Amino acid sequence: MDVISVIRAKRDRAELTDAQIDWVIDAYTRGEVADEQMSALAMAILLNGMNLREISRWTDAMIRSGVRMDFSSLPLPTSDKHSTGGVGDKITLPLAPLVAACGAAVPQLSGRGLGHTGGTLDKLESIPGWRALLSNEEMMDVLRGTGAVICAAGDGLAPADKKLYALRDVTGTVEAIPLIASSIMSKKIAEGTGALVLDVKVGSGAFMKNLADAQELARTMVGLGQNAGVNTVALLTDMSTPLGLTAGNALEVRESVEVLAGGGPADVVELTLALAREMLAAAGVTGGKDPETALRDGSAMDHWRRMIAAQGGDPDAALPVAREQHVLTAPASGVLTGLDAYAVGVAAWRLGAGRARKEDPVQAGAGVEIHAKPGAVVTAGQPLLTLHTDTPERFDYALEALATPDAITIAPAGADFKATPLILDRIA
Ligand code: URA
Repeated sequence: MDVISVIRAKRDRAELTDAQIDWVIDAYTRGEVADEQMSALAMAILLNGMNLREISRWTDAMIRSGVRMDFSSLPLPTSDKHSTGGVGDKITLPLAPLVAACGAAVPQLSGRGLGHTGGTLDKLESIPGWRALLSNEEMMDVLRGTGAVICAAGDGLAPADKKLYALRDVTGTVEAIPLIASSIMSKKIAEGTGALVLDVKVGSGAFMKNLADAQELARTMVGLGQNAGVNTVALLTDMSTPLGLTAGNALEVRESVEVLAGGGPADVVELTLALAREMLAAAGVTGGKDPETALRDGSAMDHWRRMIAAQGGDPDAALPVAREQHVLTAPASGVLTGLDAYAVGVAAWRLGAGRARKEDPVQAGAGVEIHAKPGAVVTAGQPLLTLHTDTPERFDYALEALATPDAITIAPAGADFKATPLILDRIA
């Protein structure tokens, strides 16, 4: 087998054979296929696509590049959630302990942020002492003891995806449905969860900008999951505006704790409850405690505190606060008709909440606090956003992201405003 014939085949719109796919994934993982050759193949896939058989085989080959985890020794059914990534998407934080409080075990292998979308591990690392890196034994201990664990995927899980994802990130080949679907599902199937709920984001702050593309991605991933014996469901949810009132690591932890305490922004609570109910149903947990009750009676908070402490974190420690703040005010009076998720995500990233390269550090306190969401009536001069950073020289660059024509839109008082529903579709 030689890589050039595989690249040429996809370049010329041919279907790749099972043997070609198995070989190229294995050879790339071993370093026999070079990065520049895999980049060419990834670009050919982005331009010419893959059919379901090819995507399924590609996913399977990435799973076989590493180890598979096994939670069958746990006394509870396992259920996991994966979001395709958005701005202010802190849902995993309240969701994992909430679902654990309602009777399913949640093994949540999460990632770090790259680009304008935040990463769950970066958020949790703003809690003093909390550790993302656990051995397999530690992971099982936390899961057994607290019902939920959120940690980094070990190096042995789908190593082909680890390598390929880093390559796609720097070659403009992230946004290919076959590559996104196989990347996400290879990790989730290898992780060994029994049930999986996908939160496929749609809108300016997401990879998928329109509903039709998001539906295709969701259908592909649900098919891959079901074929692998993982009970998989997808919700398609709005990411045209940030979720909740914060984007940034410690800021989002604070908001998540508010949700666990029975408060928090309505959209974060709505999505957390919807995903929790889907995760419990997919795992076959019925008739147990309702998630809304678990938020109200303190049992979700209790699971959160135990989960954080089991990973070395102090749930009572004060969260880091950025050294400098800048308040952005409303330029006019009227109805706030848009607060663009991408613009806010880029601003938070530029303030130091995200990283430009994998090895860059993030600032725990950096980010954007939102004082008015679309639909709010605002008065010229009132605070709209507070920007937080330890490095005030970043303010101007962050403000540039918020100065684009679509970033903040205000219509005259009395203008019609139609809110986009948070949950746009469900695919099972
Ligand atoms: N998340 C992943 O894990 N992979 C992708 O390709 C996109 C989002």
